Amino acid sequence: MTEDLFASPDRENLAPGAVLLRGRALPLEGPLLEALDEVTAQAPFRRMVTPGGYEMSVAMTNCGEAGWVTDRKGYRYDPIDPETGRPWPAMPAAFRRLAAEAAVDAGYPSFAPDACLVNCYEPGARLSLHQDRDERDFDQPIVSVSLGLPATFQFGGPKRSDKPRRIPLQHGDVAVWGGSSRLHYHGVLALKDGDHPALGRRRINLTFRKAL
Ligand code: SIN
Ligand code: FE2
Repeated sequence: MTEDLFASPDRENLAPGAVLLRGRALPLEGPLLEALDEVTAQAPFRRMVTPGGYEMSVAMTNCGEAGWVTDRKGYRYDPIDPETGRPWPAMPAAFRRLAAEAAVDAGYPSFAPDACLVNCYEPGARLSLHQDRDERDFDQPIVSVSLGLPATFQFGGPKRSDKPRRIPLQHGDVAVWGGSSRLHYHGVLALKDGDHPALGRRRINLTFRKAL
């Protein structure tokens, strides 16, 4: 029973507590893309600056009760979009639903995200290896949704020096990591150029977290 439930061609175990659900977002593609446009109309993508003074190659925005931001003062979650001075747009129903359902599939039945970081990669953009550790509660998993151009995800271990696996991610794939892999290092290699039917020369990633 348990084996049947966990053995599926659409499901790859990445590490204890971490799973890749291939195509899990596809049934909600239309509502997700519509909601994405609504979010970015209210809170446009922008390239933020790291505490060290580097402009990130990935453009970002957020929705939900709090948004992840970085500037010269550091990384943090902020209920206000510093760019507009207004609260971040509410988390759209389709986003919330996908995050909760994918978390259930991955074995996290009580995930209730309050923050969604929206990343926009253009060709060449990359995200170096990092841990997601600005959240208060590491008992809650991370749910990460890939849309648009394919990318190579790096998923390592608890130490920066742990050699990361390379995982190709396609439009509609959802990765979930929590439990003993919640603080594993991960990143995205430089995006290759291409043209996606729905999103053009871009990859969009939605990262759901319980931040507050
Ligand atoms: C992230 O780690 O915030 C994003 C990962 C991704 O774009 O797949
Ligand atoms: Fe991350």
